[in-house]
Amino acid sequence: MTELRARDLSLGYGDRQVVTGLNLTIPEGAFTAVVGPNACGKSTLLRALVRLLRPRGGVVELDGRDLQRLRSRHVARELGFLPQGVEAPEGIRVAQLVRRGRYAHQSVLGTWGPGDERAVVGAMAAAGVTDLAERGVEHLSGGQRQRVWIAMVLAQETPYLLLDEPTTFLDIAHQYELLRLLARLRDEGRTVVAVLHDLNQATRFADHVVAMRDGRVVATGAPADVVTATLVEEVFGLPCLVVPDPVAGSPMVVPLD
Ligand SMILES: Nc1ncnc2c1ncn2[C@@H]1O[C@H](COP(=O)(O)OP(=O)(O)OP(=O)(O)O)[C@@H](O)[C@H]1O
Ligand SMILES: [Mg+2]
Repeated sequence: MTELRARDLSLGYGDRQVVTGLNLTIPEGAFTAVVGPNACGKSTLLRALVRLLRPRGGVVELDGRDLQRLRSRHVARELGFLPQGVEAPEGIRVAQLVRRGRYAHQSVLGTWGPGDERAVVGAMAAAGVTDLAERGVEHLSGGQRQRVWIAMVLAQETPYLLLDEPTTFLDIAHQYELLRLLARLRDEGRTVVAVLHDLNQATRFADHVVAMRDGRVVATGAPADVVTATLVEEVFGLPCLVVPDPVAGSPMVVPLD
């Protein structure tokens, strides 16, 4: 059993301290939503969890081992990451970009096998970009491009999927399609961590919610325990009612006038 955990984590850039003394365990095999206001440190935390940002203090552990000490290939095979606002290399085609997701799986000789092909075809189908395979990524719409990146991350077939605002740019139907896909991957045993701005989507699809403010974790737990009117007011400064979602029964945030 693997476990991703942050202990007493401090993160920052230059003289800007963003996260101080953060403790967090990502429940394995669950769908965790990270919520919080702009600039509170969500992306910074995710980058540290996938080792793109070295901690100033504390440690991120995968399986009880310091992430900094693991081999890059091991990290790449375990942790799939979709950054926020990522840009594709110029001139690259959709299928080419998705194939890059297999990089960490290739042998030293870089041989492309049937397993790689299957992963790429499956990921493109799951993300709904099969028909775009030969299109240039830079000529796609924002939502199409976002789905191509999702396909690239899925092609990595990692047990962990960490996605920074995966629903941005997507229309409402594609947002729900993606959230359902993530829930299905969770059902199949993967661990999903997604930064989501839509609290109603977070409570409806996630098993576990991490609420952040000013670089700190303010609350973690089941959606109904975390997303309360008090917490939303405390974290976002937004007075609201929280009522049961009429379809799913999950907590639904309705802002007050
Ligand atoms: N590369 C960087 N260099 C310097 N400061 C940065 C850098 N990236 C982020 N920051 C700062 O760190 C703080 C946290 O940023 P972060 O991107 O983690 O926020 P966030 O919670 O993801 O916000 P959003 O919801 O807007 O994506 C902000 O004050 C931001 O300006
Ligand atoms: Mg962010």
